[in-house]
Amino acid sequence: MKRTILLAIAALAMLSCNTDKKQSINEESPKMLVLYYSQTGATRTVANELQAQLGADIEEIVATQPYDGDFQATIQRCQQEKAEGILPEIKPIEADLSQYDVIFLGYPVWFGTYAPPVETFINSADLSGKTIVTFCTFGSGGLKTSTANLKAAQPDANVIEGYGVRNARMAAVPTEVENFLKLNKYIEGEGFVPEYSEAAELTDADKERYEAACGDYPMLHATPTAVATAENDDTCYYLYTAEENGQTLQVKVQQSKAEGSTPEFTEVIR
Ligand SMILES: Cc1cc2nc3c(=O)[nH]c(=O)nc-3n(C[C@H](O)[C@H](O)[C@H](O)COP(=O)(O)O)c2cc1C
Repeated sequence: MKRTILLAIAALAMLSCNTDKKQSINEESPKMLVLYYSQTGATRTVANELQAQLGADIEEIVATQPYDGDFQATIQRCQQEKAEGILPEIKPIEADLSQYDVIFLGYPVWFGTYAPPVETFINSADLSGKTIVTFCTFGSGGLKTSTANLKAAQPDANVIEGYGVRNARMAAVPTEVENFLKLNKYIEGEGFVPEYSEAAELTDADKERYEAACGDYPMLHATPTAVATAENDDTCYYLYTAEENGQTLQVKVQQSKAEGSTPEFTEVIR
């Protein structure tokens, strides 16, 4: 088990673009910390699942003045903080970060990237030489952009794009976290990644499936133009190309093969 994790970390480190980065991996037993911020509990659910499956330590990033649970109030406070050029204070992190080789860093996506309390943490911590695996929850997406922003903010860390999930799909978290950890060799077992076909023209059934999955989500106003497909024994996966305000998006939908199941909107890749 430990050997598998070490191999995974070594492989990920080698894949990293910055080959001159120094990994401070404890060869005997890499220490892992799950560190996360969560306002309304979705990211906490993922953090707890990661902690349980990895047997890692865990700590929550806490804003000194908590954000109000109300969506509109949170937006207003963020806008005001942005206008004033300030970031929220956070309580000191209790974990000694120098003791950890791998940090799973989790956050809700706010305005397309990690929520401000996580930005405060990132701006104040030295993560050089560490492997940082991102994870996040979102209404529609943001794993890719937030991970890219973290890479830019901590260029001497080995930042790995991790796991993201829509907050409407929390029931899928245990299985998907397990798959993610297996796929990246953090735990033993075979992970699955859909291998999509070439994108093809939409049939009426493809259009109906997209509408059934995404039609209710108020923040997505994209029109699908093509779809690529993949499947395994249990599930069919659909990667739609879609146009929204002159932008091309990739929208993921999946549907269980179990009888009576309905298509699920899983992510906009951004
Ligand atoms: C201020 C604010 C901004 C948000 N911005 C985005 C966004 O840009 N994209 C998105 O997909 N979801 C966005 N969301 C939705 C959150 O990412 C989502 O509700 C998340 O799962 C909350 O995680 P938590 O329960 O751990 O706080 C936003 C939510 C808030 C409160």
